[in-house]
Amino acid sequence: MAGGQGAYVPGRDLTGRLLVFKLGGDARLPPAHPQNLGIPDPPPSTASKVQIAAGSQVFNQHCAVCHGQAAVSGSAIPDLRYLPKSVYGTGFKAIVLGGTLSSQGMASFANVVTPKDVDDIQAYLIKRAQKTRASMQQPGLWAETKSFFCRLIAPLLTWYNAVTH
Ligand code: HEC
Repeated sequence: MAGGQGAYVPGRDLTGRLLVFKLGGDARLPPAHPQNLGIPDPPPSTASKVQIAAGSQVFNQHCAVCHGQAAVSGSAIPDLRYLPKSVYGTGFKAIVLGGTLSSQGMASFANVVTPKDVDDIQAYLIKRAQKTRASMQQPGLWAETKSFFCRLIAPLLTWYNAVTH
């Protein structure tokens, strides 16, 4: 897997890399897989703050156990911030209330959440997707932050190498 880029699957974006260090090595890391390619353009966020807050509460109470706190999923269960636009609305309700994916481990929550709760959850997820996408679209800032820390750490490593050898 060394040097691999990880196959892209929506909501299951595998971007991990295995780094092997060698004393005196001077290889350079190839650029990281651009994560913002993975998040589809979410619908516009038109809901009120009150509705989004209500959605956050229901989501974190009933969905986060599988889909992750604050909708950040680190496991094989889909990260709902990556939900394609086309799934919102009818499709979303069919999954959550109708149980259309129950054979794949996503049961119907019709006896747990109301149709209004499901609207609130969607408003919350759209907001989370918008925020994540916006933060991913700052490659310049991210690159600067990384190089700042590299510049900070490089002299320390050189010093450490010198005093331990
Ligand atoms: C017990 C674990 C579990 C809980 C709790 C859960 N889900 Fe899921 N959910 C899953 C799994 C597993 C899948 C993936 C099914 C598949 O492979 O198609 C999924 C898929 C979905 C999808 C489709 C994702 C896609 O990419 O197509 C939506 C939407 C969804 N869940 C919404 C919710 C909502 C909203 C809640 C809370 C009311 C919730 N889920 C709670 C396990 C869970």
